[in-house]
Amino acid sequence: MTLGKTIDGKAFAAKVQDKVAQGVAKFTQSQGRKPGLAVVLVGEDPASAVYVRSKHKMTIQLGMESFEFKRPASISQEELMELVEELNGDPRVDGILVQLPLPKHLDEQAVVELINPDKDVDGLTPISTGRLALGLPGLVPCTPLGSLMLLQDELGDLSGKNAVVVGRSILVGKPMAQLLLNANATVTIAHSRTQDLASVVHQADIVVAAVGRPEMIKGSWIKPGATVIDVGINRVPAEEEGKTKLVGDVDTAGAISHVAGITPVPGGVGPMTIAVLMRNTLAAAHLRAGLPAPEGL
Ligand code: GUN
Repeated sequence: MTLGKTIDGKAFAAKVQDKVAQGVAKFTQSQGRKPGLAVVLVGEDPASAVYVRSKHKMTIQLGMESFEFKRPASISQEELMELVEELNGDPRVDGILVQLPLPKHLDEQAVVELINPDKDVDGLTPISTGRLALGLPGLVPCTPLGSLMLLQDELGDLSGKNAVVVGRSILVGKPMAQLLLNANATVTIAHSRTQDLASVVHQADIVVAAVGRPEMIKGSWIKPGATVIDVGINRVPAEEEGKTKLVGDVDTAGAISHVAGITPVPGGVGPMTIAVLMRNTLAAAHLRAGLPAPEGL
């Protein structure tokens, strides 16, 4: 086994996007309309605004309709719920994504629960979460599904492999563990209260790091030959004064020499998240049109 490989998430995401674009062209021809994605952004969070802009650009680039709804942070719960209801009933909209986090005065869970599960391209409604837990087909959160696709591309069958997921968030950790379990891996979920995290991580053939703490997982914790998916995107001060840079949750410099593969930050999982959102939008359009799931995705 060659060690020290970087897993090129950007290149893999480009391949997924090509397949989505082909699927979109077929759908548009057969249905006489484009698949549509509605994205709701509340407030002025700069990171969220950047994500929403890239989602919009990619949606258009792959031939789909993009509907953007920017609302002030002062929006009321009722107004936001009304908007989601409208999108649920809009025949041009196949996918609905409400960018998280929402401002503190809003009840995030109530908004997410209102989304029609058939349009839940984020895979966050209780119906989607339940279907994933039951191992039934359904829409799955984008970042974990993108991470699983990278792992399967690197390793093939994941049966019996020891996977450690560090982090238990609704958006990444929990659905990631579920996906790995459904792929027959032996799964451990570690988190901030885990005792002796270093030795837990050292057992893993597969490490998925999703804790949101810069370079918290040290290279020496990782077993030689393991495959590492670094979901973290943390902005930290750069060497040059006044500048910042992005780092993951894993100390990549300390891990690179002895891993079988590791996703870089940026350029690893990030591009996969958007590619899978596009995939999920096409899949939702197929579902709503009564078509079988898109091929090869
Ligand atoms: N904020 C950060 N990541 C995500 C995501 O995947 N979906 C939504 N809705 N909000 C996010």
